[in-house]
Amino acid sequence: MQIVSVSSLKGGVGKSSVTLGLASAALQAGVPTLVVDLDPHADATTGLGVQPQRGHDIGEVLRRPRRGSLERVVVASSWAVRDGQDTRALDVAPGSARSSHLDRSDYRGKDLGRLERALSGATGYELVLVDCPPTLSALTRTAWAASDKVLSVAEPSLFSVAGTKRTMTAIAQFEQSRTWSVPAAGVVVNKVQHASVEHRHRLAELQDLFGPLLVTPVIPDLPVWQQAQGAAWPIHRWPGAEARDISGRYSAILRGLLDGSA
Ligand SMILES: Nc1ncnc2c1ncn2[C@@H]1O[C@H](COP(=O)(O)OP(=O)(O)O)[C@@H](O)[C@H]1O
Ligand SMILES: [Mg+2]
Repeated sequence: MQIVSVSSLKGGVGKSSVTLGLASAALQAGVPTLVVDLDPHADATTGLGVQPQRGHDIGEVLRRPRRGSLERVVVASSWAVRDGQDTRALDVAPGSARSSHLDRSDYRGKDLGRLERALSGATGYELVLVDCPPTLSALTRTAWAASDKVLSVAEPSLFSVAGTKRTMTAIAQFEQSRTWSVPAAGVVVNKVQHASVEHRHRLAELQDLFGPLLVTPVIPDLPVWQQAQGAAWPIHRWPGAEARDISGRYSAILRGLLDGSA
């Protein structure tokens, strides 16, 4: 089982979108996947068409992480595909404001093992995608501590490049402070407008700064993304050439993640 957290210390860059794009690719490819929504805003949960039930969310699990506590909150999302006679759905551990008890900067070291402990009881998944809040809180560090890989999301803009530097520095510092295994890091570039000179400049800058850590392909900024998201629908099942373009890119990133080349 590979655990990948999608993180950035900046809001609005596309963390939840990248989580959902990869989840859509995994569903399409038949990779058994669990989405863990750690952001108290619960956008990934909403994007998967799930209404969290009181007491059945990841915040509850993180309060008392025990064997079996994760399974009690995991639900089948509305994203599903037919598989022969069966219907196969993407699973989600829903987010809610109740996880905000860990969305703070002060924490005890042992709190950081809470998600790892909860996930140790998760069986049957090849991939776990963790959508993180935009803060360097205990919640985010809890995700990093549980992850094999941290994907940071960047936009090709000045502030986002600066935010990505901060995120990558924080991940590196976190790695140094840890006594257990070190997560690998990568940078996914989202909302790229290929016709924009500024975007091309910022892409080159990201390439200079992060070189081999930059994940390819990049994801374009296209209105169809927001249409599919607004309908809580997987991009791989949305019609049209633009949706096919984005879907193909997320499938390629997923393949790289699973074969270890991304
Ligand atoms: N590739 C894209 N093309 C167009 N809009 C996008 C794209 N990626 C994200 N967005 C939009 O940008 C906004 C912020 O994305 P979101 O995933 O919520 O960011 P974050 O989770 O980092 O706060 C959302 O309205 C989303 O639909
Ligand atoms: Mg988000």
